[in-house]
Amino acid sequence: MSAGIAGALVMETCFESGVSVQLQKLSKSFESAAGEELSALSEIDLRIEPGEFVAIVGPSGCGKSTLLSMIAGLERPSTGILRVDDEALTGPHPRAGVVFQSDYLLPWRTILGNVLLPIEIKGLDLNKYRSVADELLVQVGLSGFASKLPFELSGGMRQRAAICRAIIQRPGLLLMDEPFGALDALTREQMVSDLQALWMRLGNTVVFITHGIDEAIFLADRVIVLSPRPGRIDLEVKIDLPRPRKWADAHLHTQFHQAMVDIRDCFERRGILHAENLEQPAVQT
Ligand SMILES: Nc1ncnc2c1ncn2[C@@H]1O[C@H](COP(=O)(O)OP(=O)(O)OP(=O)(O)O)[C@@H](O)[C@H]1O
Ligand SMILES: [Mg+2]
Repeated sequence: MSAGIAGALVMETCFESGVSVQLQKLSKSFESAAGEELSALSEIDLRIEPGEFVAIVGPSGCGKSTLLSMIAGLERPSTGILRVDDEALTGPHPRAGVVFQSDYLLPWRTILGNVLLPIEIKGLDLNKYRSVADELLVQVGLSGFASKLPFELSGGMRQRAAICRAIIQRPGLLLMDEPFGALDALTREQMVSDLQALWMRLGNTVVFITHGIDEAIFLADRVIVLSPRPGRIDLEVKIDLPRPRKWADAHLHTQFHQAMVDIRDCFERRGILHAENLEQPAVQT
């Protein structure tokens, strides 16, 4: 789907700029089935600037999806303050598009019907958006699949359709929860590069959750590392590599290597990675 998503959107829709997100001492607890309190996230302080690309990494169960759900306005914080564009968030934000950990396409709707779902829900003009949806699907390599049902597509194709659905609304804030986690390495590499192209073109704010440290460093302006549950910010790493970044070249860059070492050290200190299992990536100086 190279170069595609970005071109399709710029053609029809001029994106508004990205929004800011501010989290102040944000915590979230759940009540377990046994009635015990489970602290998922603790006192997260984070400001995300308009147009910034922030990646969040952390061990399984540390509260990443919970954090994303709160920023999307789908889950309420237990304590703390959450503002989007300096306004307290009280429900789903109209300028947020979400790509969930699973693609969550509705199995009974066609691919086109799925992409248009947010437009339908909001009661917007379907005719106006049908051509945008068609063009998006073409650009992500899904031409000819608009009338298929999700089960007829591969995992990567379904995830591309889910991305189309998230961006058709021109989100100033794109929230992505491990969107490429289930893809094979080659498809993932392609989609990561395409996402960079999309974001560079549109300048929206992106919060991207991933287990892939390399994916996070490649894409982000800033990588946030969360501790094991209850998730707290353990480390922030700024990534200044020039853009556009190329997958293979970026991995050879000294700064990429250093960020990788710092993040892995952080996991190692927490006992999530063990030194003897670590492979050191090659460095080009
Ligand atoms: N609705 C809920 N009710 C009760 N507990 C929940 C709920 N949602 C999440 N949790 C708990 O909160 C913690 C954080 O869950 P979350 O899904 O945010 O983790 P995660 O970092 O996204 O994990 P993964 O990397 O495996 O996706 C987990 O212990 C989970 O069991
Ligand atoms: Mg998760």
